[in-house]
Amino acid sequence: MLKRKFGWTDVKVPIIGQGTWMIEGDNKDTEARAIETLKLGLDLEMTHIDTAEMYDNGHTEELVAQAISGRRRDEVFLVSKVLPSNASYEGTLKACKRSLKRLKTNWLDLYLLHWPSSYYPITETMRAMEKLVSDGLIRLIGVSNFDIEELNEAENALKNERMACNQVLYHLGNRGIERRLLPYCTEKGIAVVGYAPFGHGDFPSPQTPGGRILEEIARRHNCTARQIALNFLTRHDYVFTIPKTTRPERVKENSESVGWKLTDDDVMAIDKAFPAPTYNTPLEII
Ligand SMILES: NC(=O)c1ccc[n+]([C@@H]2O[C@H](COP(=O)([O-])OP(=O)(O)OC[C@H]3O[C@@H](n4cnc5c(N)ncnc54)[C@H](OP(=O)(O)O)[C@@H]3O)[C@@H](O)[C@H]2O)c1
Repeated sequence: MLKRKFGWTDVKVPIIGQGTWMIEGDNKDTEARAIETLKLGLDLEMTHIDTAEMYDNGHTEELVAQAISGRRRDEVFLVSKVLPSNASYEGTLKACKRSLKRLKTNWLDLYLLHWPSSYYPITETMRAMEKLVSDGLIRLIGVSNFDIEELNEAENALKNERMACNQVLYHLGNRGIERRLLPYCTEKGIAVVGYAPFGHGDFPSPQTPGGRILEEIARRHNCTARQIALNFLTRHDYVFTIPKTTRPERVKENSESVGWKLTDDDVMAIDKAFPAPTYNTPLEII
C-alpha cells in the first residue's frame, strides 16, 4: 500500500485507510466478520483506522481494539473523534481517555473534533487538544466537517500545535471540497481525509451514464469501477480516503486502488461524468 506524507507532518500514512462507521452489523457473526476484515486490511497495510466515540456508542472502538490487538501499536495510525456535545475543555479530556480505554491503547495518532460544536467555543476544545498532546495521549490534532472559516478559527485557537487534518465528505457525487477547501488545506499543509468515498453505499450503478464510464475505464485498467473511483479521489497529494467494508474480498479490492495512475484522458472522462461544482457550495455533513 502506497503511503504519503500526512500534510505538513513527517508521518507517512497509507493513502487508503479503513472506515469503521456501522461495521458491527446486527449480530455477533457480522461483528466477528468486521473484525476479521479490519485485520486483513491491516495485513494489506491499510493501517489508517478511522473510528469515533459516536460509532455504536463507543462499541466500535472496542471492536477496533480487538482488530489491532497483538500488532505493534506504532504500525497503526489510529484516529478517533470527540463528539461536539462533549467538546468542552474537561469534556474533551475525559472523552479522549474513555476512547483510549475502549481502544486499549495509550495514545491516538490523531484526534478530531467530529463536527463544529454549537455547545462549546472552539478555543476551549483546541486548548484541551493541546493538553492531550502535551500529556502524550494524542500525537496530532484535527477537525472534521469544517469549512474554511471554521478551520481558520480552529487553527488560530491553537497556541503551541499546528492543525494536521480536516476530515470531510468527498466522493464522485460530491466534489465540493475541490473548489476552495482543498486548495486552502494544501496551502496550509493540512491533510484532507475524504470520508464516504463510495457515497455511503450510493455508488454509481453500471446502468447509469457515469457508472458506464467508470466500468469502461476499469476494463482498460483491468480493475473495478470502485478502484477507479478511489484512485481518482486520491490523485491529489494531500488527500487520503477511508472506505468502510466488512467483507474480506472487498477490503482487498479497495487496497489495490492505488500504486498505478489513471491517464489524463481517464481523468478528463471522469471529470466530465462527475463534474466538480463550478460555484461555491456549503460543506455537506453526513
Ligand atoms: N467525519 C465524519 O463525519 C464521517 C462521516 C461519515 C463517515 N466517516 C468515516 O468514513 C468512513 C467511510 O464512509 P462510509 O462508511 O459512510 O461509506 P463508504 O465507505 O463510502 O461506503 C461504505 C459502503 O460501501 C460498501 N463497500 C465498501 N467497499 C466496497 C467494495 N469494494 N465493493 C462493493 N461495496 C463496497 C460497504 O458495504 P460492506 O461493508 O457490506 O462491504 C458499505 O455499504 C466511515 O466508516 C467513517 O469511518 C466519517
